[in-house]
Amino acid sequence: MHIGIMTCGGDCPGLNAAIRAVVLRATSRGVSVLGFEDGFEGLLEDRWIALDRDRTAGILPRGGSILGSSGANPFVDGAATASALEVADRHRLTGLIVIGGNNSMATALAAQDAGIPVVGVPKTIDNDVEGTDTTIGYDTAVATATEAIDRLTTTAESHDRVLIVETMGRDFGWIAVAAGMAGGADLVLPPEEPIRVERVIDLVKAQRQRGKRFSIIVVGEGALFEGEKTQTGRPQVGGGRFQLGGVGSRLAEKLAEQAGAPWRITVSVIGHLQRGGSPSAADRILATRFGIRAADAAMDGPHGNMVAISEGHIVLRPLTEVAGRLKPVNRDLLEAARAVFEQP
Ligand code: F6P
Repeated sequence: MHIGIMTCGGDCPGLNAAIRAVVLRATSRGVSVLGFEDGFEGLLEDRWIALDRDRTAGILPRGGSILGSSGANPFVDGAATASALEVADRHRLTGLIVIGGNNSMATALAAQDAGIPVVGVPKTIDNDVEGTDTTIGYDTAVATATEAIDRLTTTAESHDRVLIVETMGRDFGWIAVAAGMAGGADLVLPPEEPIRVERVIDLVKAQRQRGKRFSIIVVGEGALFEGEKTQTGRPQVGGGRFQLGGVGSRLAEKLAEQAGAPWRITVSVIGHLQRGGSPSAADRILATRFGIRAADAAMDGPHGNMVAISEGHIVLRPLTEVAGRLKPVNRDLLEAARAVFEQP
């Protein structure tokens, strides 16, 4: 028996831990594992490596993906769909494990509909995949962003700065809110709510009047200014998702223009640091549990599902219910955030 595995979309810490778990589980039953390179591109071009215990030894703590990753989707084109099917059939794949985020779960569903038996595994630092309490990579990204806020806070404090920290997370504030809370930020501006510049100015002024001489403001990269409809960023060279980034600098400009106060404003964009590095213990454990369940489903069925975690238990969710659907920050977390952050 053979199963396949691939990593799709943007990388994150914990992918290798998941790959290793799949390989350990499958090989313990004498099942061989083909690792397709660069997501569905590797399936289409029949590029893969044989994964076994030796090939995956030592990869557990490593960031990135030993398989490479891409957001390729062959199932939008009849000829490419036929080629992908032909490769999957030739390798007699009993199951194909697709590790990815929202878009990749939609591609996995398209593969399943085309006749390839798939199992999805949710990963993304953004934590915005519907149907699972958390995704591989999120815990590490929050830890990295928190550490950045901690480091930036000491320098902001020494120099009376207004410090704006821009986090990743696209359309939702999972990273911004969690890292802002863990890092003790004064204010968090998640994409879930429009940014009201005059309220941010009032907040900083109120803090200074109270004698607090520095402010830490965390803004999610996808946040919109009140009255605007377009997020800050630019089209990706060569196509693909709109590249978010720059909202922190725009906020700094607006504060400088409108506050009428001589604040030293500094912007720090954490950027891809949030996606890199060694996975946290929690991400290693989650990736391992997901990998084991995904391997079982790939070998024995049922196919067409995504593994997920719900209230501490590993469960399967039909891809038809979760693919391409987004998960905003839940009310509990937002309410807890409102209780500890200053209100703009
Ligand atoms: O989806 C994960 C993510 O890191 C987002 O938080 C971010 O907007 C995006 O990917 C960046 O992607 P890229 O590296 O392709 O610009």
